[in-house]
Amino acid sequence: MIQDFKKEIEGLDAKAIISYVNEKWGDTAVFSTSFGIEDQVITHLLDQAGREVHIFTLETGRLFPETYKVWNRTLEKYGLPIKAYYPNTERVEKLVTEKGPSSFYHSIEDRKECCHIRKIEPLQRAIKGYKIWITGIRAEQSANREDMESVEWDEVNQIIKVHPLFHWTLQDVESFIKENNVPYNALHDKGFPSIGCQPCTRAILPGEDFRAGRWWWEDKSKKECGLHRTTN
Ligand code: ADX
Ligand code: SF4
Repeated sequence: MIQDFKKEIEGLDAKAIISYVNEKWGDTAVFSTSFGIEDQVITHLLDQAGREVHIFTLETGRLFPETYKVWNRTLEKYGLPIKAYYPNTERVEKLVTEKGPSSFYHSIEDRKECCHIRKIEPLQRAIKGYKIWITGIRAEQSANREDMESVEWDEVNQIIKVHPLFHWTLQDVESFIKENNVPYNALHDKGFPSIGCQPCTRAILPGEDFRAGRWWWEDKSKKECGLHRTTN
């Protein structure tokens, strides 16, 4: 099935991929948005395509105030239903009761445990039963991601993942946002090319990797939370 899908979208640009998925796969496809600048491009294109594809966000409970603002502005502009997935209440209560509210700083294992509870388990619920999962990943975001492909089979979640903006540069994304007057997270103008949870994201310095501000205190991890597996 993935080979057929790859063939069907071969040579198409991002807009055409999104229109194609929207038309052919409709509500059997799902798009995950963190309201990052890439995701905003995809939301805009899905809106133009007719919004059959479902949209969700993982509300970890630790997002920036700016992220809630752009979430609201997105709803105002597009009026899309964006389904919010929260962490399992019992699991997050147990974590915070036993380890406190900032256990992610203690070790890579503790950080991954928090990501698992706040992102991975809700993600598994969010994509269950769908055939296609659209994300805003770009190859340029990190060395890990350069090794990914624009269409992949996610063995763990048994779903086809497609990254329509995979070959876009940050400049392509920024130009699209400007030209189409798409709402975006104000933090992008303050040195945050990649935005996750508030306690785990900082601005980057000139010349730093796009993802250097994610889990910045870790030097031995791949700076991935596990939503997207990488090949190395
Ligand atoms: S992460 O794995 O490090 O958190 P990143 O922030 O680069 O991912 O975003 C890559 C893609 O993952 C986004 O384009 C989006 O599709 C998805 N994603 C990341 N965070 C979330 C979230 N909180 N809710 C929904 N989707 C998300
Ligand atoms: Fe927890 Fe930080 Fe992962 Fe968010 S990014 S889920 S706060 S460890």
